[in-house]
Amino acid sequence: METNKIYKGDCVNILETEIDKNSIPLIFADPPYNLSGKSLDLANNTTGGAYYKVNEKWDTYNYEDYLNFTEKWISSCKSVLFPNGSLYVSCTQHNIAEIIIISKKLELKLNNIITWYKVNAMPNITKRTFTHATEFVCWFVKGKNWIFNYDAVKQFNPQKTKEGQSKQLRDFLNFIELPIVQGKERIRGENGRALHPTQKPEKLLELVILASSNENDIVLDPFFGMGTTGVVAQKLKRNWIGIEEKDDYTALAQERLNSNKIILNE
Ligand SMILES: C[S@@+](CC[C@H](N)C(=O)[O-])C[C@H]1O[C@@H](n2cnc3c(N)ncnc32)[C@H](O)[C@@H]1O
Repeated sequence: METNKIYKGDCVNILETEIDKNSIPLIFADPPYNLSGKSLDLANNTTGGAYYKVNEKWDTYNYEDYLNFTEKWISSCKSVLFPNGSLYVSCTQHNIAEIIIISKKLELKLNNIITWYKVNAMPNITKRTFTHATEFVCWFVKGKNWIFNYDAVKQFNPQKTKEGQSKQLRDFLNFIELPIVQGKERIRGENGRALHPTQKPEKLLELVILASSNENDIVLDPFFGMGTTGVVAQKLKRNWIGIEEKDDYTALAQERLNSNKIILNE
């Protein structure tokens, strides 16, 4: 098994055939949410900024297939995790139920649901429901004695005392406020459109990686996309493994990692 490498192909296949069992302390997975293909006609869509609408083939499943796929990749992730390893799964209200039920069925323990409040979420122009301004990251563990780096997590507390110290009782909230990736951090093509619809904020990955891994550990991402997990792992002196099935994203992620361009929101 090689580290600091993008494996190109289907993650279930690669996890089963190329990654050593019980070898990975931390996995961050940002899977398809199965939001696409729901009568979204984006033929003339020009939305390529923060409000990119996701309408991708890789994100389109019928419901039974989505359940089967979800069970397969979570089970494959579990088999490569250390006995005390952590699996963080990014999701929204649309798939959080499936992720949690399937993970529980596979005997993973849910330690936390971190809420990401998207401070620049798309306004709800229909005025028929509350605005969708949150995503979640579910933190599962395979066994006991998981890593939780108490001191490293403290810095993420937005609430400070007058002296600039973290407010102790609130140091470890399961809550983070961050914008959807924008500005210099968002990777765009020459036409100004985002090159990946669901690029995750580097700061979110920083929280996960600092909390649940140590220097030189391997962080694996089975849905690598633009390689955000690898970029942040590299910066934080971790090794990484990415798995991505699409050629263009694999190439873009590799380019991003080679250029070592890291812009963390302050
Ligand atoms: C939600 S995106 C991840 C975005 C990533 N977190 C980032 O910051 O760029 C999911 C990615 O998984 C890839 N993907 C979907 N199904 C896959 C599969 N079965 N195996 C490997 N990659 C897959 C898609 O091509 C897409 O790039």
